[in-house]
Amino acid sequence: MAVTRTFSIIKPDATRRNLTGAVTSMLENAGLRVVASKRIHMTREQAEGFYAVHKERPFYGELCDFMTSGPVVVQVLEGEDAVKRNRDVMGATNPADAAEGTIRKSFAESIEANSVHGSDSDENAAIEIAFFFKPEEIVG
Ligand code: RTP
Ligand code: MG
Repeated sequence: MAVTRTFSIIKPDATRRNLTGAVTSMLENAGLRVVASKRIHMTREQAEGFYAVHKERPFYGELCDFMTSGPVVVQVLEGEDAVKRNRDVMGATNPADAAEGTIRKSFAESIEANSVHGSDSDENAAIEIAFFFKPEEIVG
């Protein structure tokens, strides 16, 4: 299996509860390595741009409100089959459906305030990484 990269966000509900370390620890225990990380407060423009694929969805406005409601930690994760590995440890979007041992089962507050984001394909991972990081900020 090839070593690849994915993009992760520790969302405002998790930073608010001081769970950055706990979430990162679960990512690391799942075989992922943090090769870039920064804590930022997303602007409205960044949130709307990042979630542009969801523009037509009914939850788009609320999602952008939530993602700009507090600090987030954006990260690049590296590991074997990183996109799938990350999504497996994240768990289902709705914590009510998330499996035991996943980040969302452990920490998510609701379907919206669900603690983490993870890219859903290698293609989107590359786009999302480039949205927040310059190449020299990623140190593998
Ligand atoms: P993500 O993109 O954050 O990794 O999560 P995902 O693939 O599991 O979920 P997606 O369908 O891409 O939705 C993006 C984010 O929008 C919020 N959401 N709210 N109120 C709702 O029904 C609803 N559905 C989704 C969540 O924060 C979700 O992670
Ligand atoms: Mg998604």
